[in-house]
Amino acid sequence: MQLFIDTANIAEIREAACWGVVAGATTNPKLLSHEGTSFDLRERVLAIADLVGGPVSVEVLCEEPDQMLIEARLYASWHPSIVVKIPMSLSGMKVVNRLEQDGIRTNVTGLVALNQAVLASLAGASFVSFFFGRMSDLGADPAPVIQDAAVLLHAQTRTQIIVGSIRNLMDINRSLLAGADIITVPYAFFKQMAHHPKTVETIQEFNSAWAKVRNEVRAIPAERLLLERA
Ligand code: E4P
Repeated sequence: MQLFIDTANIAEIREAACWGVVAGATTNPKLLSHEGTSFDLRERVLAIADLVGGPVSVEVLCEEPDQMLIEARLYASWHPSIVVKIPMSLSGMKVVNRLEQDGIRTNVTGLVALNQAVLASLAGASFVSFFFGRMSDLGADPAPVIQDAAVLLHAQTRTQIIVGSIRNLMDINRSLLAGADIITVPYAFFKQMAHHPKTVETIQEFNSAWAKVRNEVRAIPAERLLLERA
């Protein structure tokens, strides 16, 4: 079970990296388009790689296989953590197969069906990315598809299953329970995962109980130390 962060925003990644729960990052052309026009892609990707210290997916923009190969090799040359995202298609599978044979890790993206995961995995992809929210948009439940993919891929291949396109916390929970290896989570959902009003209420109750007696009982050593330093 791992969480990646689904963003190209440095401030978000910098903060999330400090929490110790983020094992990698995924970007895509739409996420990069949210970052304005004045950044250098190589510098941005290197900064992300340094912050997360794990796989960083960067998606190719070319659509013709030979050009995709050139673009993918360029990205992979930037940093050993880079995983090249290849959109799902048969010509994409050709590119995936070639890159993986050359030791370049790939992430086949845009998956909404089990058949696509089978092809990507057989082509040798290190990762496949199911799009939970977009699968739900089609009117079907994505969880059984992810569960079937986990059964097949985990038993017979080394491909890891990423689930992205997260729309709410249940999407994360259901994907993990279905057997996904990695969920790529937008920054805002990390905050939601940590927060619960009942937790806040409970901690407040404990702290105000202590505050009422603090001046009458001998403070615990650590608190006394901090009070003396203040
Ligand atoms: C995954 O790698 C994608 O970046 C992402 O999760 C796409 O999700 P969307 O449906 O929010 O665009």
